[in-house]
Amino acid sequence: MQGITKYFGDFCALKEVELAVRAGTIHSILGENGAGKTTLMNILYGFYTCDSGKIFVHGSEQEISTPKDAINLGIGMVHQHFMLVEPYTVLQNIILGDETTKIPGIIDYKKARRKIEGLAQAYHFNIDLDAKIQDITVGMQQRVEIMKALYRGAEILILDEPTSVLTPQEIDELIDIMHSMVKNGKTIVIITHKLAEIMKSSDECTVIRKGKNVASVKIEDTSENELAELMVGRKVHFTVEKENRKTGEVIFSVDRLTVEDDRGITKVNDISFGIRAGEIFGIAGVDGNGQQELFEAIASLRKAKTGSIHMKGVNITNTSPREMFENGICVIPEDRQKSGLVLEFTVAENMVLEKIGRAPFSRHGLLDLKKIRKNATDLIREYDVRPEHCEDTRAGALSGGNQQKAIIARAISNDPDLLIAVQPTRGLDVGAIEFVHKAIVGQRNQGKAILLISLELEEVLKLSDRIAVLYNGKFADILDAKDADENRIGLLMAGGKNDENA
Ligand SMILES: Nc1ncnc2c1ncn2[C@@H]1O[C@H](COP(=O)(O)OP(=O)(O)OP(=O)(O)O)[C@@H](O)[C@H]1O
Ligand SMILES: [Mg+2]
Repeated sequence: MQGITKYFGDFCALKEVELAVRAGTIHSILGENGAGKTTLMNILYGFYTCDSGKIFVHGSEQEISTPKDAINLGIGMVHQHFMLVEPYTVLQNIILGDETTKIPGIIDYKKARRKIEGLAQAYHFNIDLDAKIQDITVGMQQRVEIMKALYRGAEILILDEPTSVLTPQEIDELIDIMHSMVKNGKTIVIITHKLAEIMKSSDECTVIRKGKNVASVKIEDTSENELAELMVGRKVHFTVEKENRKTGEVIFSVDRLTVEDDRGITKVNDISFGIRAGEIFGIAGVDGNGQQELFEAIASLRKAKTGSIHMKGVNITNTSPREMFENGICVIPEDRQKSGLVLEFTVAENMVLEKIGRAPFSRHGLLDLKKIRKNATDLIREYDVRPEHCEDTRAGALSGGNQQKAIIARAISNDPDLLIAVQPTRGLDVGAIEFVHKAIVGQRNQGKAILLISLELEEVLKLSDRIAVLYNGKFADILDAKDADENRIGLLMAGGKNDENA
């Protein structure tokens, strides 16, 4: 890609960006949230057209104005936010829009199935073709997306933040799949914020900042620290300063909670814990061990079967998200697009979602738009949500990481007594992670209680004062942070016993 420039209105998202990817390599693209990575790839995939610039594939200049053009040139893309039809099966999703027919109007499922099974074998991945998308894990959904691209004959595969939704095990599996694709002659362009993954998987890396090229480096000649510095333009601190402080009283408690999933299977099995003011209580665990159901029950999004939840002495079991908010609980949800934001609303509107009906944002049934806007202006500045003046921008038009920053800004600005943070830094760049971690620890230092649920073991270890390990719907153990390390927690996460003599 040569001299790629792209404007959204007056906003210049990309300015004369260059990208050169060698055939048969894995090339990563690194940059802060909002740097323009997804936009650049969307241009390559024909999702957007650039205002100026040229694209060459195998040496010849190409006009790519629709994804169809890209697919015909052997370019496939797996998007940052998946684009699957939930009630359809895996098979139906893979062939959607590219159905082979026996006679016109009749889909040849047998033939499609054979082709997909062949591909799955070649690249060593298991997928259940007859499962519905809504019933499979995110990791599996991602394989469906990759398979969709391979099915359409992709030779160049673009992966936009493929690992931000995966568990550590799934990440290793994906990297294996990527390596086997490259062995089979494919070329991969991958966007990721995780520097360790770039070091492990890639041959080269192109860094962009605020829509401009910063550097292109060979992985063998660089380091995680250098990449971080290139990307953010300053040194990044990977550790969080945490002062020792006395915790207060237990303000939030869960007592003998049992929760079932939609199919009536017990996912949270008789769990009890309490969180004190000024304490970060972290829950570690491999995805699927009950985190989601535990969170949903606490947030009143799912009924608890038995047990109770109390906030500052008030029983809030099976109430409503509104009631939770009234009792001083705010949430940074796991899925920013589904439950964090109303994508069609502006950033300013999203920043007051829970309290839009209250003073000062509403008086006598009328909204005070000036106050709503001012509130957003302050938060955008404080939390560095980009682009700079996005008060009236549709939340859906923000980059993924900036959507996340907006949600975090809103949650903290509500000044909750208990902040529930689920995967709070998913999809954030290292600079923004540093910022969010500081903000969470800052809340703790102000005497707030924090419940942190994260699949990133490193994050749980770094922030928590106490760590509970969720395994199979129960706490395998609750450890003091000073007694916890990666090995010990890792063992518990895998269902091992915490035996001192072992
Ligand atoms: N459809 C759109 N309309 C208006 N602005 C947009 C649109 N798409 C992207 N932008 C803006 O362009 C900039 C680059 O966005 P992009 O999604 O490419 O960032 P990114 O590097 O992928 O960030 P992230 O790491 O957060 O995903 C952002 O400031 C974003 O708000
Ligand atoms: Mg992006």
